Amino acid sequence: MAENVIRTRSLGAAVEGVRDQYADGKAAKVWEVFIGDKNSRTQNYKNFLFGILKRKGCKRILDVACGTGIDSIMLVEEGFEVVSVDASDKMLKYALQARWARRKDPAFDKWVIEEANWLTLYDDIEDLVGDGFDAVICLGNSFAHLLDNFGDQREQKQALRNFEKCVKPGGFLLIDHRNYDNIIDSGETAAKSIYYNPTHTTSIRTSVLYVSGKPALVSLDYLIDLSSDKENSDMLLSEESVNEFRLSYYPHRLKVFTNMLEDAFGENSTYSIFGDFKRLDQVETPNFYIHLVEKYSTYF
Ligand SMILES: C[S@@+](CC[C@H](N)C(=O)[O-])C[C@H]1O[C@@H](n2cnc3c(N)ncnc32)[C@H](O)[C@@H]1O
Repeated sequence: MAENVIRTRSLGAAVEGVRDQYADGKAAKVWEVFIGDKNSRTQNYKNFLFGILKRKGCKRILDVACGTGIDSIMLVEEGFEVVSVDASDKMLKYALQARWARRKDPAFDKWVIEEANWLTLYDDIEDLVGDGFDAVICLGNSFAHLLDNFGDQREQKQALRNFEKCVKPGGFLLIDHRNYDNIIDSGETAAKSIYYNPTHTTSIRTSVLYVSGKPALVSLDYLIDLSSDKENSDMLLSEESVNEFRLSYYPHRLKVFTNMLEDAFGENSTYSIFGDFKRLDQVETPNFYIHLVEKYSTYF
């Protein structure tokens, strides 16, 4: 709906029902440069993620938005058994290349990478799900890529139900979104990432589209200064040293998103919310909300 008004830069369709914003290959390459070196995840993020996974004794992890593979690689290196999926073949290309380059390492040889779409996720990978994963992760503001094509968030609810089916009882889902409440109120998006240590100066220009008085789509134009980056200078669109790419997101309100999670996982599951990896009372205006949903198990 809203998507017809503000167009994304890349109009490819990965699979029916999902617009692949990375389909032109350019956005995927810029993203790979934007997130920086694969080893440069922020320490706060690593401590948070590994802390939860180890505390809960997780072994099998499903990364449902692996993109170029940055989180999955970190998890494989840490000894987890990882299945990684994404709808964009242009993004997956980088993950597949990384697996190929390190295939002689048994941990990387075992790393499973598949193309899958959240709307059909369970059917796409049913044979890999088995009794369910210890943890399903959907991080890096990925879920907000799924827009609201029908005006009632039905596809987002469907995707969350599919995530729930992939989590084993007693396992958990970790899913995040930017603080869209603040983005809508302020009209601005913080360029500082809680996940990456970007090597390039980046700023983010924010546009909010309202449909019938309700925020329906946020477009973020990432402006990346590549002037000092000889290796990636081929990505420059012109003689300018600033590269620009746009991604469009559904602006999830914290309360509404929490309710959608509760509908998908049921009232007996346990819900916690973190702001920039901290308890909510420890951070005033977080850039990201991270939801931890522990799926109910009758064994407890
Ligand atoms: C911002 S990237 C983040 C990737 C990675 N987690 C990171 O932090 O770098 C979001 C990813 O979500 C994927 N995605 C968006 N909609 C999807 C869908 N419906 N099904 C599967 N993947 C999807 C995109 O293809 C993209 O690779």
